[in-house]
Amino acid sequence: MSGSFFPGNSKVILGDCFEVIKNFPDNSIDLIFTDPPYLKKYLPLYKRMAEEFPRIMKDGASLVTIVGHYAIPYVLEVFKNKLKYRWILCLNQFDGKHARMAMGIEVMWKPMLWFVKRAYPHGRGFLRDGIKITGTAGQTKHHHKWEQDISWCEYYIKRLCPENGVVLDPFCGSGTVGVACQKLGRRFILIDNDEKAIKTTRQRLGM
Ligand SMILES: C[S@@+](CC[C@H](N)C(=O)[O-])C[C@H]1O[C@@H](n2cnc3c(N)ncnc32)[C@H](O)[C@@H]1O
Repeated sequence: MSGSFFPGNSKVILGDCFEVIKNFPDNSIDLIFTDPPYLKKYLPLYKRMAEEFPRIMKDGASLVTIVGHYAIPYVLEVFKNKLKYRWILCLNQFDGKHARMAMGIEVMWKPMLWFVKRAYPHGRGFLRDGIKITGTAGQTKHHHKWEQDISWCEYYIKRLCPENGVVLDPFCGSGTVGVACQKLGRRFILIDNDEKAIKTTRQRLGM
């Protein structure tokens, strides 16, 4: 499939993201920014992301995904030869409460892996490879048990998606990416396979 996609409004879709995107044209998304579930049983999702998401991304588009520290080697391996690895981005959460892992690590920051389809466009200026989580929504989890604070995504969406572009969050949870996109004036497509999450997302976004 090809051609112009998604000239209209932003969308919130209930369904399995891999099924939903089968209807999306090739080369139609400017930025995938997402936060899949981290538990080990969900790891195969990253393999499917690597196999099925590049088709719908425009050349030069970025895919940024939160990854559990433990999963970085696996995710880098499954994305090899699918998208170009660009960098590891740091979500600094030094303030507030921290998870303590059984292996004896207190988690002060979360990694995000940044991949690009073919080459990242020249001349976009400098991008910080880390940002500080400034709000508390990621700790209070008011909307979703895995909710992130909006400061997780706002800085990067503003810089990685052009003003007329479209952002996809295929694992949207309570729609935090949509909240940031509304604030920044970017169109978005949000998908989740959980009915409750989609209801919360629609309520948050007034859609
Ligand atoms: C970590 S949460 C996202 C939280 C979100 N960042 C927020 O701030 O609320 C991941 C979400 O992925 C959804 N999910 C898991 N597998 C999915 C799939 N195959 N398709 C669509 N959504 C899926 C889960 O229902 C869950 O809501």
